[in-house]
Amino acid sequence: MLPHCAASVCHVLVLVLHLSAAEDFDWTKNNHDSFYYGTFPAGFSWGAGSSAYQTEGAWDKDGKGLSIWDVFSHKKGKIQQNDTGDSSCEGYYKFKDDTTLMKELKLNHYRFSISWPRIIPTGVKTDHINEKGIKYYDELIDHLLENKITPIVTLYHWDLPQVLQEKYGGWQNISMINHFNEFANLCFERFGSRVKYWITFNNPWSVAVEGYETGEHAPGLRLRGTGAYRAAHHMIKAHAKVWHTYDTQWRGKQQGLVGISLSGDWGEPVDISSQKDIEAAERYVQFYLGWFATPVFHGDYPQVMKDFVGRKSVQQGLGTSRLPSFSPQEKSYIKGTCDFLGIGHFTTRYITHKGSPPGRSGTSYFTDRDLAELVDPRWPDPGSEWLYSVPWGFRRLLNFVKTQYGNPMIYVTENGVSEKMSCTELCDEWRIQYFKDYINEMLKAVRDGVNVKGYTAWSLLDKFEWDEGYSERFGLYYVDFRNKNKPRYPKASVQFYKRVISSNGFPNQREVENWRRKAVETCSSSNQLLAAARRESKEHAERPKVWPVHDEV
Ligand code: NOJ
Repeated sequence: MLPHCAASVCHVLVLVLHLSAAEDFDWTKNNHDSFYYGTFPAGFSWGAGSSAYQTEGAWDKDGKGLSIWDVFSHKKGKIQQNDTGDSSCEGYYKFKDDTTLMKELKLNHYRFSISWPRIIPTGVKTDHINEKGIKYYDELIDHLLENKITPIVTLYHWDLPQVLQEKYGGWQNISMINHFNEFANLCFERFGSRVKYWITFNNPWSVAVEGYETGEHAPGLRLRGTGAYRAAHHMIKAHAKVWHTYDTQWRGKQQGLVGISLSGDWGEPVDISSQKDIEAAERYVQFYLGWFATPVFHGDYPQVMKDFVGRKSVQQGLGTSRLPSFSPQEKSYIKGTCDFLGIGHFTTRYITHKGSPPGRSGTSYFTDRDLAELVDPRWPDPGSEWLYSVPWGFRRLLNFVKTQYGNPMIYVTENGVSEKMSCTELCDEWRIQYFKDYINEMLKAVRDGVNVKGYTAWSLLDKFEWDEGYSERFGLYYVDFRNKNKPRYPKASVQFYKRVISSNGFPNQREVENWRRKAVETCSSSNQLLAAARRESKEHAERPKVWPVHDEV
């Protein structure tokens, strides 16, 4: 996610200005560093997440078709170390073990995605439905429900059937809308009696920008300045169509909800006394989250995107804007197609205005925004190069959603932090700190009146991290990928998150400190056990499948 040209700008430009940021809303008046002890409303849902390509493995088993990620990851030089998701965590075979881990954590929900080519191998429903794929998801859903874990199901977490890419150009082509709708309809038909939370798209920003603009992600296209806008346009329409399908055909019987999961970094003005920086920061968020959220809540793209892309298109001598437009009928069809909003949030940037004259730096989504991204060198940066821990940005983003989109129901669908470690490390104190502070900012946002109903830690397991392969680990559970059984081991953060869940928040300082201390104590013995298991596995191929979570602190 996001290691693009603008990200390199952030690493060069180092911020020395205004650490205490804008006091532009009442809720920002609080000291960033103050910790709020208190609990979430009763019924708040706690979960963890995964996605099909990142965890399932079994890429060519039981009749599954190829996805664009299978093909992309098999090309040399696309992924760190040429890793692939071929076997990944073997989640396809180990979902019962993983449900045990979820129970240990006392999760209320589990977020996973359905692989489209696993159930419709060519992507076209009338070609063939793969009943073995359906059976896998049937069993997973049933098993979760037997264990009182609510499934939150994503329909598209980036694994488009390869045939649709080859035949039509994937999301560049308008025909994806109908194919996706057919796939979604099949999912509603087969799973909808048991699944009540549906997410159409996960992070369409990333699909559009990294798949069709920078080419870092599958399908690897570099259609600068147009590809991302076109892909996004079709995804937004596809989302709306699926929402209407559910609304007219299934909602009455199934009583579920259909939302979309959008990712968004927060953008804070570098200089809060500069109107240009304030506007640039607003643009950053509008070009990110607003690109998708504004159509689904208000029926059209953010005005600032229309203005900026439109103006630059004219300057380039184009007859029409590179940003496509919606017809009046489409606007009213798309508006209001969101029963809940999924938010995936990891990090924040400082933003300053930076014009990019036409022709000089080439056309792209990034130059269309006329801004530069910066980071504070003091922000903790334990893992992925783009991921700095800036908890207060989370509260600001959630409040932005509340004010911009009429306080919709929100589920946080992704939040977490990675580590880049060559040695095994189960004592992830930095992750405990990240979760503690981000969840606390979410609690403050709830107190601000933001309608957050649930939180999904990203991710349950270490897994295939897209173009970074297995080099970045987001899991609460460590996965030993070198062992063919892919055993899971609890990191210290499991102990901590489990306490947050059972207390539904943070009761008081003494207890919360105690959780952290105990979590860190247990993990050093876990580390030794893992090291011993490693040594042993060199001698014996076999090893325990699942390591039980250490109990009561
Ligand atoms: C967002 C993506 O949806 C998810 O698949 C990925 O693991 C995280 N970002 C972290 O990069």
